[in-house]
Amino acid sequence: MEKVATLLAHLIASVLFILSLRGLASQETARRGNLLGVAGMVIAILATLTQSKMEGFGGALPALAVGAAIGGFLASRVQMTAMPELVALLHSFVGAAAVLVGFASYLSLASGGHGGEAVAPGPAGDAGWHVTVVSPILLGEIFIDVLIGTITFTGSIVAFLKLKGTVGGAPLLLPGRHFLNLGLLGGAVALAVPYGLHPVGGVLWLGLMAILAGFLGVHLVMAIGGADMPVVVSLLNSYSGWTASAAGFMLGNDLLIVTGALVGSSGAILSIIMCRAMNRSILNVLFGGFGTASGATTKAATPMVGDMVEARATEVASMLASARKVVIVPGYGMAVARAQHAVRNLVSRLRERGVDVRFAIHPVAGRLPGHMNVLLAEADIPYDVVFEMEEINHDFPTTDLVLVIGANDIVNPAAQEDPGSPIAGMPVLEVWKAGTVIVMKRGKGAGYAGIENPLFVRPNTRMLYGDARVSSENLLASLPT
Ligand code: TAP
Repeated sequence: MEKVATLLAHLIASVLFILSLRGLASQETARRGNLLGVAGMVIAILATLTQSKMEGFGGALPALAVGAAIGGFLASRVQMTAMPELVALLHSFVGAAAVLVGFASYLSLASGGHGGEAVAPGPAGDAGWHVTVVSPILLGEIFIDVLIGTITFTGSIVAFLKLKGTVGGAPLLLPGRHFLNLGLLGGAVALAVPYGLHPVGGVLWLGLMAILAGFLGVHLVMAIGGADMPVVVSLLNSYSGWTASAAGFMLGNDLLIVTGALVGSSGAILSIIMCRAMNRSILNVLFGGFGTASGATTKAATPMVGDMVEARATEVASMLASARKVVIVPGYGMAVARAQHAVRNLVSRLRERGVDVRFAIHPVAGRLPGHMNVLLAEADIPYDVVFEMEEINHDFPTTDLVLVIGANDIVNPAAQEDPGSPIAGMPVLEVWKAGTVIVMKRGKGAGYAGIENPLFVRPNTRMLYGDARVSSENLLASLPT
């Protein structure tokens, strides 16, 4: 009976997790998706606590209460821009938990418990351990769980420190670093042989493997440029899912297997989507050392012909007021300037005047997946005027005016026109096809890719220099009444 109840609870929780992921796919349903995920997790925790093999859950409740209090406190205080840091830290917990569960399962096995069958007393010197006949599959699951868990743990800690700025963002490019990675991984995997052959003393091999895997996690993430961290955090998210899945196999817990697989595959898909939107391969992110140059350094691309033409806020305001169709392209600079509220006020006034204003969102605008969507939602900008790149890109030729607010790489025509450009092939918003393009930025600073942008010298482009928030406020103040 208990088994049926547990299975049913696991099934309901799994369905809720799947519905949660579905809900998180769009802004309108994200809140509901979150709540469904919470409901699934509550059912999963209750189903675990009420199993008879828990032998009373007095010890688990205080741990749950402390964990929930710390988690709730941290999540309620975190700034949107610090979200990747928090996520990286949380992934390190998943890795650490998987490693601890792996070691605990192994020690339990080696002492004859949990699926291992004690067949004879251990030789003298084994301090009361028993030689056990254990399933090689179970041993393998523990090994994989500890391997991926340790890489996730140490890699996530380094990602957290890099995002926080405690460790410098520049990639650590040691000579022969790929061989070092291969050596560490090969060494860790090779330890599976003595570990498998000596089930009693195997904990030493497991520990040694965890040390090598720990170094691998540190070195892998140290070699990645700080600005590529969002992709890496998403990849570590995927690792944390697979390690949870391995723990599920190890513990015979089907819910953990399903949940881990959901996290593992969604993290992997998100990493691939981000890489595709940047036109880079995941291998290039992991091993390319991209972002070596600081964002301010302008790399040589095809030389730009022409001058940037400046416009004043009053001129731009009257262009906006007389336009029929306006598209706003927000980018990283809008996030830095925290200009979203000022932009919302500007949009409200323009809409009151009958101007058709829409937003165009590039999949990797800013520095986080969904960065711009979150900022616009925070400023209460209605969802129905926010469009993804593929929904709106073909509308630029019929748009009177495009306002590019703190964006650079995502509107760079060199991606389509200059095969030698570092961002050649990256899908971009084709804003230059509109009647007039106004670019709001502070000066001549390059974007994330560190390259020049020929959009700025196009005949139909005007530059409105200044901090994005201040410029948006100036535009609002200058709109004709
Ligand atoms: P960027 O190309 O980084 O350009 C941002 C521009 O904002 C800069 O040129 C800067 O010029 C301007 N800016 C900075 N502070 C400003 C302020 N206070 N007011 C006004 N302007 C300001 O940003 P983007 O166009 O959003 O492109 C995103 C880039 O990040 C892409 O290359 C993408 O591949 C990369 N990336 C994204 C992600 C995700 S998941 N979103 C992850 C990793 C990498 P000034 O200095 O002249 O003001």
